[in-house]
Amino acid sequence: MFGTRLTQCAADIQAHFDTVLGNLGDFPVIHAMGHATNGGKRLRGFLVLESARIHGIDAARAIWPATAIEALHAYSLVHDDLPCMDDDDLRRGQPTVHKKWDDATAVLAGDALQTLAFEMVSHPGVGNGNVRADLALSLAKASGAQGMVLGQALDIAAETADIPLTLAQITTLQAGKTGALIEWSATAGARMAQADVSALETYSRALGLAFQIADDILDVEGDAATVGKATGKDADAGKATFVSLLGLDEAKRRATQLVESASDALSVYGDDAETLRQAARFVVARKS
Ligand code: IPE
Ligand code: IPE
Ligand code: MG
Ligand code: MG
Ligand code: MG
Repeated sequence: MFGTRLTQCAADIQAHFDTVLGNLGDFPVIHAMGHATNGGKRLRGFLVLESARIHGIDAARAIWPATAIEALHAYSLVHDDLPCMDDDDLRRGQPTVHKKWDDATAVLAGDALQTLAFEMVSHPGVGNGNVRADLALSLAKASGAQGMVLGQALDIAAETADIPLTLAQITTLQAGKTGALIEWSATAGARMAQADVSALETYSRALGLAFQIADDILDVEGDAATVGKATGKDADAGKATFVSLLGLDEAKRRATQLVESASDALSVYGDDAETLRQAARFVVARKS
């Protein structure tokens, strides 16, 4: 059920990217945007489409914010991989944008993917003006200096900090770095329906943290061929992660606990939320 749905969501998002990017013309930075948005699990886009479905929102409307969050996520990855950040050569089993093109193209493709995301959530096909404004405002907050960018900045700062971060500081770091975009994704469907976001908020806070713990575990336990990106990099760079602070076993225990909390938060949606519950289990069981 979940696997089929994720595959279908990924195909729909890819088709939407093909149309939108195909209309932008022919220039290296546009090819780089296509490269950066190709592949990946599409978990964030799936969360948009699935939270929209349980609120009775038409998929033809939800595909816009679903593709938008994947564009914004792709921008964050392109910049995250730059030599001045994590300096990575491999992403989704392919060369990173700055390796295939150059640093300037990677910076600009990331910039343009970010603005494209806001163009897409503001598209008339998404819904009325209030819904589009709410999606754009919440996405800006989730992405910026109180959200993903803050998390990335804390992550980079921790590499050179004299004192290791505390558990509370790592939780804050990861809630920004990974949590904010995942939270936006899972609440987008409720926003589109102008409904209460609180159950999905609780779900996604637990899910986002579990997701980043799993990413940190994969960095230790995974191999590059399966994960599609270099592994063993967090320890080398002195990154502050749940694994570095708690060790593998305790990190895994926490991730499992978070999956339980995420699932429990969805009780108001009954059986309709089963695919979202399965998504939570997938997040910690995944191998890439
Ligand atoms: C990787 O995200 C970056 C993090 C926020 C940990 P994903 O694991 O969702 O990457 P893709 O989109 O599937 O490649
Ligand atoms: C990246 O986190 C998070 C964002 C891009 C916002 P990581 O640096 O841990 O992600 P990977 O491991 O390179 O995918
Ligand atoms: Mg990073
Ligand atoms: Mg990285
Ligand atoms: Mg990582």
